[in-house]
Amino acid sequence: MHARRALLYMPGDDMRKIQKATTLGVDCICMDMEDGVALNRKAEARQTIAQALQSLNFGAAERLARINAIGSGFESDDLAVVLPARPDGIVIPKVEHAEQIQWVSQMIAGYEELYGWPKESICLLAVVESARGVVNLPQIASADPRLQAIIFGAEDFAGDIGATRTPEGWEVFYARSAVVTYAAAYDLQAIDMVYIDFQDIEGLRREAEQGAQMAFSGKQIIHPNQVAPVQEAFTPSDEAIAYALRVQQAFEEHQKAGKGAFALDGKMIDAPIMKSAQRVLALARAAGKI
Ligand code: COA
Ligand code: MG
Repeated sequence: MHARRALLYMPGDDMRKIQKATTLGVDCICMDMEDGVALNRKAEARQTIAQALQSLNFGAAERLARINAIGSGFESDDLAVVLPARPDGIVIPKVEHAEQIQWVSQMIAGYEELYGWPKESICLLAVVESARGVVNLPQIASADPRLQAIIFGAEDFAGDIGATRTPEGWEVFYARSAVVTYAAAYDLQAIDMVYIDFQDIEGLRREAEQGAQMAFSGKQIIHPNQVAPVQEAFTPSDEAIAYALRVQQAFEEHQKAGKGAFALDGKMIDAPIMKSAQRVLALARAAGKI
């Protein structure tokens, strides 16, 4: 699976921003047709995204397009214009039912067959951002083999349940936690909420670190200044990597000596702690740090 430490959105009708995004070293570039685009600019956005996919060099970045919600009336045209330009994946907003994901997956399968592309080569990411979406997470997470990640949309979720967004974020904490838990249960990535105050880099860093501790794979972002702090937060630090390597080595030695639990630096180490060390090492490998 593609590393998705940061997923940068930009309005799909803004070629300048799409172009800029390709220069930032960001893991995922998500060209939007939904809420970042005015109603009278939807057609322009589709065309611009198709043109960007065909003409720009995105380097190692994943090329994603966010369609309008299923049922909005825009979704079929979004797919019809953008899919022939072969994005790496489609982001579906406001997902509440498995059938919505399955419908998009079938549409994609038609294009893969038509163009002779490998089956299931275009992936799906589902945004859960309503009470119904959260309640239906088990069905959503297991809806389709193309689905690789669940994205949590905090602003829409708060609006849907009637909560007021606060800096502490307790009003969305259960939903955030549910998204990471169901994603883990079905081997999907979980991608955390947007930090909309793009001038507050310290606040962003704190929220990104909290997301990483909760086991999100990455975070949605909306501005170039958010790329570096977020990708850093979702990459293990040198100290964390060194410690994980020591845990792994000590664990293997103690296993051979017939000990499941032992002490390292005055702390108890056993199987779950070894598992978390292995996760740190896998992330470090994915980021090219070991
Ligand atoms: N992706 C790529 N480039 C971006 C960008 C983004 N999301 N946001 C800003 N930039 C570029 C600007 O074009 C500008 O480049 P330039 O100097 O070459 O013209 C530079 O970064 C600095 O931008 P800045 O002036 O600080 O911001 P702005 O006032 O132009 O834009 C927003 C502010 C919020 C409108 C803009 O960041 C944005 O569109 N974000 C994404 C919104 C979105 O897609 N929402 C839907 C999903 S939640
Ligand atoms: Mg939304």
